[in-house]
This record gives sequence, structure tokens and C-alpha cells, in this order.
Amino acid sequence: RTKLAVFASGNGSNFQALYDATQDGRLDAEIVLVITDKPSAFVLERAKQAEVSAFSFNPRDYESKQAYESMLVEKLEEAGVEWLVLAGFMRLIGPVLLTAYENRIVNIHPSVLPAFPGKDAIGQTLAAGAEMAGVTVHFVDEGMDTGMIIAQRSFPVNGQNRETVERKIHDIEHQLYPESLQQLFSRQQSV
Ligand code: GAR
Repeated sequence: RTKLAVFASGNGSNFQALYDATQDGRLDAEIVLVITDKPSAFVLERAKQAEVSAFSFNPRDYESKQAYESMLVEKLEEAGVEWLVLAGFMRLIGPVLLTAYENRIVNIHPSVLPAFPGKDAIGQTLAAGAEMAGVTVHFVDEGMDTGMIIAQRSFPVNGQNRETVERKIHDIEHQLYPESLQQLFSRQQSV
């Protein structure tokens, strides 16, 4: 089973969806570590409930991104992590992690990329009066939400309010992320 680390900064509903999928057989992988840059993030509570090891750090305690990423690479390698799965991790990944996990870092983003990268993508989508909202799963590169697209799902906004759009996006995410990771990992194993 592919060993994953999930990176999250907040609620962790995507961590939960991925974890649940590993438990009921939809995702043939094991989440061995949760990493957060926010020591108060609710994802830590979820990790504890799930009995998944978690590590939280405050980037401010480190001299540079390079310094905390080197520390993370050590933890990740120690835990035998093979893939990094970003799920609401609100920080750009730098060269140290990108090199250590080349082509093995994925992210989920709440817009139909390349439209609306960056923060508050749902707010951006609604403010722009876009016709479609949606979700993208993609590889991570050095840019902001610019890596190769793995899967995408969209739906018409149709004047729905933020709460409704947000709920639909989360519902899609919770299905799409485990599904596309399962496909990705099974493809990898067969090459
Ligand atoms: C998700 O909607 C995810 O797509 C988004 O943060 C939310 C995290 O929710 N990620 C980004 O905006 C990344 N740029 P969660 O903590 O409940 O999984």
C-alpha cells in the first residue's frame, strides 16, 4: 500500500475523506502522517481520532522555508512516506520538498484551474461572476496551483449563494480526491 502524508492547515475534511476511503477499501493507501503548519488546526483532532501520527510545526520557528522543509523531509523519510497529498495546506511548496518528492506531490484546489488560483478560490469565482465553479486535482510544481492537471469536475453556479456552492465543492472534493488518487497509484504500480 502506498504510504502517504497529508498536509493540511485547517478543518481537514479532505483528510477525513481520504482516511475514510483508505479504511473502506476505495483507496489502496495508508496515511502514515499528517503534517500541519497550524498547531491549532482541527485536522489534528481528526488525526488523533483516526490514530494517525501527526506533526505540527510553526514556520516562524525556522530561519527559512528551506530550513523547515529540510526538517520535514527528514520526518517524511523516517516515516517511509512515498507521496505528499496536500489537502487545504495554505503554503507554497519550495525546492527542498519538490526535489525530495519529485512528481509525487498532489494538491486539490476549489476552482476549475487555470481559473482562480491562490487563496479563496470560491470567493474569487463568485466575485468574478463565473459561469462554472468546480474542483481540480493536480500535480504540484513550483508555481501557485500551476502543475499538471490530474482530474477536474465542474458545475454551473446558476446564481446559487456562497454556502450552497461551497457545500457542493466540498462534496465533490471528498469524492474526487480519493478517486483520482486511487487511479493515480494503480497506474503507477502497473508501470
Ligand atoms: C479545500 O476546499 C481545498 O480545496 C482548499 O482548502 C479547503 C480545505 O478544506 N485548498 C486550497 O484552497 C488550496 N489553495 P479542508 O481543510 O476541510 O480539507
